[in-house]
Amino acid sequence: MKIHFFDTLPSTNRYCELLSPDETEEFDVIVAREQTDGIGQRGNRWVSEAGNNLTFSIILKPVFLSMADQYLLTKAVALGVRDWLVTIIPDGVRQVHIKWPNDIYVGDKKIGGILTQNSIQHGHLTRSIVGIGINVNQTVFPSAAGNATSVRLTTGKATDLQQSLEAVIDTVERRYRQLADKQRDTLDADYLSSLYRLGHPAPYRYHDSVITATICGVNRYGHLLLRVDDGQTLTCQLKEIQFLPEAQ
Ligand code: BTN
Repeated sequence: MKIHFFDTLPSTNRYCELLSPDETEEFDVIVAREQTDGIGQRGNRWVSEAGNNLTFSIILKPVFLSMADQYLLTKAVALGVRDWLVTIIPDGVRQVHIKWPNDIYVGDKKIGGILTQNSIQHGHLTRSIVGIGINVNQTVFPSAAGNATSVRLTTGKATDLQQSLEAVIDTVERRYRQLADKQRDTLDADYLSSLYRLGHPAPYRYHDSVITATICGVNRYGHLLLRVDDGQTLTCQLKEIQFLPEAQ
């Protein structure tokens, strides 16, 4: 495992895509102090203040995972990021959650995001580029960032980026080892208990309707399960459901 530091890159994920599999080892990490064209989920950009946050990608080779199980990697990485944040955010166990599928929230605000790009051959994952962005010392966010927060806004203190990077790589690696060691029940149980809005009714946009529903789980393909008033359970993919803010 090697950590490669760059001052500026367009995107650490894009940089990893250009590396040939032979020149990388599992758990090689590409870190940028600044990204000029960071990518987020659903075609969004990931905008992060230079020198104040963590923006990095980890190269994994999860050949033990079938295509059907790729969602388990999302779970393991999100749990790893949460595990680190729980150690530094006050009352972390109760405050830090995973907003399905893999946004990291403190209270009702987003502190981090994950973008995983998988390469698949013969029905198995051969390489995953796991891009992680965590807001650490940034205190002002553009209005377009909506509901963003950072470690500093939450703790009131500046945090050392190098130590944070090493610590979060460590917690992600621990969760990845659980996945490789087939401790899937542990990952499933910990992911479920970390889910944002688990078990309480809240508003969502489901297709074209606004509904009130209660998150009750995630199925083995990573689809979100929501119970609605008439007792029915909705099984949702990412494009079908949007979390709406709760009335304060
Ligand atoms: C999200 O939209 O929530 C996912 C954000 C992922 C951002 C990280 S920052 C490091 C890596 N490089 C990128 O260009 N994106 C990911």
